Order: sequence, then structure tokens, then C-alpha cells
Amino acid sequence: MKYEKEINRRKTFAIISHPDAGKTTLTEKFLLFGGAIQTAGAVKSNKIKKHATSDFMEIERQRGISVATSVMSFEYKGILINLLDTPGHKDFAEDTYRTLTAVDSVILVIDSVNGVEPQTRRLMEVCRMRMTPVIVFINKMDRDGKNRFELLEEIENELKISLHPMTWPINSGKEFKGVYNLHEKNLRLFTASTKANDDDVVDIADLASPVLQAKIGDRDAATLREDVELIDGVYGPLNPAEYLSGHIAPVFFGSAVNNFGVKEMLDTFIQIAPVPRDRETNVRKVEAGEDKFSGFIFKIHANLDPKHRDRIAFMRVCSGRFERNKYYKHVRLDKDVRFTNPYSFLARSKDIIDDAYPGDVVGLFDTGNFKIGDTLTEGEKFFFTGIPTFSPEIFKELVNKDPMKTKQLEKGIQQLTDEGVAQLFTQFGGNKKIIGCVGDLQFEVIQYRLLQEYGAACEFRTLPFYKACWLTSTDKNKLNDFLRYKQQNAAEDKDGAPVYLAQSEWFLNTEINNNPDITFHFTNEVNK
Ligand code: G4P
Repeated sequence: MKYEKEINRRKTFAIISHPDAGKTTLTEKFLLFGGAIQTAGAVKSNKIKKHATSDFMEIERQRGISVATSVMSFEYKGILINLLDTPGHKDFAEDTYRTLTAVDSVILVIDSVNGVEPQTRRLMEVCRMRMTPVIVFINKMDRDGKNRFELLEEIENELKISLHPMTWPINSGKEFKGVYNLHEKNLRLFTASTKANDDDVVDIADLASPVLQAKIGDRDAATLREDVELIDGVYGPLNPAEYLSGHIAPVFFGSAVNNFGVKEMLDTFIQIAPVPRDRETNVRKVEAGEDKFSGFIFKIHANLDPKHRDRIAFMRVCSGRFERNKYYKHVRLDKDVRFTNPYSFLARSKDIIDDAYPGDVVGLFDTGNFKIGDTLTEGEKFFFTGIPTFSPEIFKELVNKDPMKTKQLEKGIQQLTDEGVAQLFTQFGGNKKIIGCVGDLQFEVIQYRLLQEYGAACEFRTLPFYKACWLTSTDKNKLNDFLRYKQQNAAEDKDGAPVYLAQSEWFLNTEINNNPDITFHFTNEVNK
């Protein structure tokens, strides 16, 4: 393998969580360990502030700032870590789902007080679909949280994944005394300070040792012994293969804001997390170690500033070596393209790069040539698969307010939907354009951008749909009949695939039951 050394020293992952569970704080601690930032607080600008939720311009401005921190690369103990940021705001959930297609593993942060939250569930669904290896960090142990056994049970049941505790907490809240490392058999005592101090670690190979009582008191020592006996009986040693196949998630307890329990996790992460993995395409599996370059676009970020109309396409390198100024094939357009200023993301600053390897994310200036899922190769024709589109949750009809600008509107909406801002459906038998989004904010973004960038004025008319399902059937006639009967609820997506727009869960279930020959899909592949 030509680039084996480069591949084996890379780990590309994302930290995911329900908003406020502690993703930003944990990210910051990782960057501190990696020496990529010097002070706490440096990553905060990345977060969309709570008070800005009604002001999309402000949110976009902040997202603009966050482009620089969309990917943070840093070195830790000789390993090059690419940490991909995911937006916390729920209206940008699709962005997060797509980012998950570009990583090889994730760290899922759960708030010990709130347990599993709605966004956690959805993110894990995406991970499960892709069999992404997951490490769980149970955060905020310094607050009075849920009972630890009940919490683990809740996570296992709700997220449908088996857990494997790597550390075990001694109490929580004011009584939180630290964690016992079940594998290294040592005790790390909790101090509410942001500096990780190795002096606070006490080796306790045998839990019967009186040192344990001396450190945490009789009562807590007795509880810890009981807990550990129970855990050892249930879990045994971690099988890395089961973690790598996405079946078992190692769990760490800690407090990100106090930088407690973070280093243990990071040390384990660099040992067990996968290096850049092989990837499926519509033609064949592409191995990371292949000599020839390939990569795909998983995110496009547009600049809302009218003075800087550039878009940045984020490309994940999947195989071989990407080089600046070299011609590559843009497979969908069947066109050779080259990039004079590709850049990498070394924590908070953008640097022009000369080359990149599997696992790396490269920022490419784009003038409208890319859409999500586009593949670049050294000439071979294939598309990377496994990039899902999810059903939108809000549907509105796009109404053209200026017939003189119809062309501009068409072009604008095509480009914005290529970027993944929203999904576009066209009603069957009519020409009604239906825009589907995850959050209301996107409609504001679309309206603003159509006017600013394309000079097209539009408005939206609310539609009573709640979900879009992609339809397939082995019986073409039955599918066509269904689409004809249900014309009011039938549409095609941008690529011409038939879609059923359901008004409610009841209608959807009724149609599913009445049409056994038709399959209703809740997600769709970008590259089929
Ligand atoms: P997010 O990116 O997942 O949305 O969460 P973020 O890290 O911003 O954390 C959300 C809030 O939780 C922050 O408080 C943060 O300080 C706090 N937090 C993170 N880790 C811990 C922890 O281990 N223990 C406790 N008690 N709190 C934690 P905030 O008040 O919203 O912001 P800030 O003013 O502290 O920045």
C-alpha cells in the first residue's frame, strides 16, 4: 500500500449530541489536548447562540464563522485527528446527517441529567444505518444525574445499541468523587479544575485494597466494589471487533467542563477508533489503500455575504492522494476539474494544502459545479453510496412573485437544493414546486438567498404534509396506478423518483397497509 503510513495515522470522527449536552465543551478539551488551541473558550464562537434562534441572518453569520471550525485537525500522540463539527441547531440537522457520512466513527455525548434526548435518537439512527462505531461520553457527572445503571439501560433501550462501560463513576453531583477505570484498574479522583492532572490517578489493581476506602470512604468503596462486580459479571473485556462493527459502544463517564474523564476517552479513542475505512460505490468497493485518488462532496457551504459569493464544497478523501493543481474527473458532469487553492482546516485557520490523504477533508472553492454526493476520481466512473436524504418535516409550495424572473427562480432553487439547503419536489400532473425542509429557518434562508443571489422574489404557501416517502415497487403498473389515484399527494423528487406526501401518520399507515406491493422508504440515497 503506497500511502499506508499516512492512512494508519489518521482518525476522522465527529462529536454528536443533543444541543447543550456538552459537544462544544468536549471539542474544546480535545483541541487543548491536541495543542491546537491554548485557552479554554476558544471554540465558543462556533456555537449558534440561543438568543439568535429567530434571526437567521445572525445564525448564518455565526455559521460563516463556523466554516473555519467545520473541520478541526490536530495531532495527539502521533495520530492525526480530523474532528468534523456538526451544527447544534436542530434546523440544520440534515447538515449533521451528511457530515456523518464523511466520518469513520463518532463520539456521542449524553447529558447525565437529561439522558437520551430527541436529537440523540435521530443521530444514532443515522449511525446505526451506517454501522458507524460509537463511543459514548456521559457528561455532566458533576450534576445530580440519573442513576447510572438506569441511565445505561435507558441508552441501550432507546438507542438500540449495547454498551460497554470503560470507566465507572463514584456518585454524581456534589458527591461525585471520580471514576474508576475498569480496564486500567485505577481511580481518578475528581477535582473541579480544567487541568488534567495525572497525580490524581491512583492505581488500585485490587478493589479490596484499603487504599480505596482511604480515598473515597467506606460507604462509596463498598458501593464501587458491588458495582464493579456486577459490571465485570455482565460485560467482561471489550471486544474491539464488536465496537468496530457498530454493535457495542464503549462508555466513559466524566465532566467536560472540568476536563474530567476526557483524557481517558481520548487515549482509548486513538487506540481503538478505526483508521480511514473502505467505502462502497455503485460499482465496487473502494479501498482506502488504493493508489488512485477518489473522494466525495458531503457538504456545501455558501457565503451569505454579497461581497463574497463563493461556496465551499467539503470533500472527504476516500482513497489515494489528492494533489493541488492536478486534474480529476467530476464523475456526474463527466468533466475534468482541478483546484488551485484547496485548503485544509488546521484548527481555526485555513491553509492552502498541496496534498491530502484518505480521511482528510479538503475545502474546495466552488462556483456552482457541485452537489452533495458528487464524486471525484482519477478517471474511473463510480459514485460513493450511503449518502442518505431524509424525509423533510415541513412542506411549503414555492410561489413565484415575479413572472419576469421565472428562469432565475428555477436556477436558484436548483442550485440551493443541490447544496442541500432543502429538498425540491414537483407535484405529479401539475407544476407545483414543493420545498421540504427540516426546520422553518431554511425557508427564510431560501427566500433571502433567491432574492439576493438570483434576483428572484418568492413566497411560500404552507402545505398540510408531514412526511415524504420514496416509493419503489417490483410492479410498475401498480406504482403508476397508485400515483395516478393519489395525484394530490404524489410528487417526484429532483431526480425524478416518485414520492408520496402523507398528510398524517394515519394516512401513511393506511396507504402502507392498502398497498402491499409498494415499498415506502423514509430515506433516499443521493447516489443510487
Ligand atoms: P453543546 O455544544 O452540546 O450545545 O453544549 P456546550 O458544550 O455548549 O455546553 C452546554 C452547557 O453545558 C454550557 O453551559 C457548558 O458550560 C455546560 N457544560 C458542559 N459540560 C459540562 C459539565 O461537565 N458539567 C456541567 N455542570 N456543565 C457542563 P452554558 O451555561 O450554556 O454556557 P457557558 O456560559 O458555560 O459557556
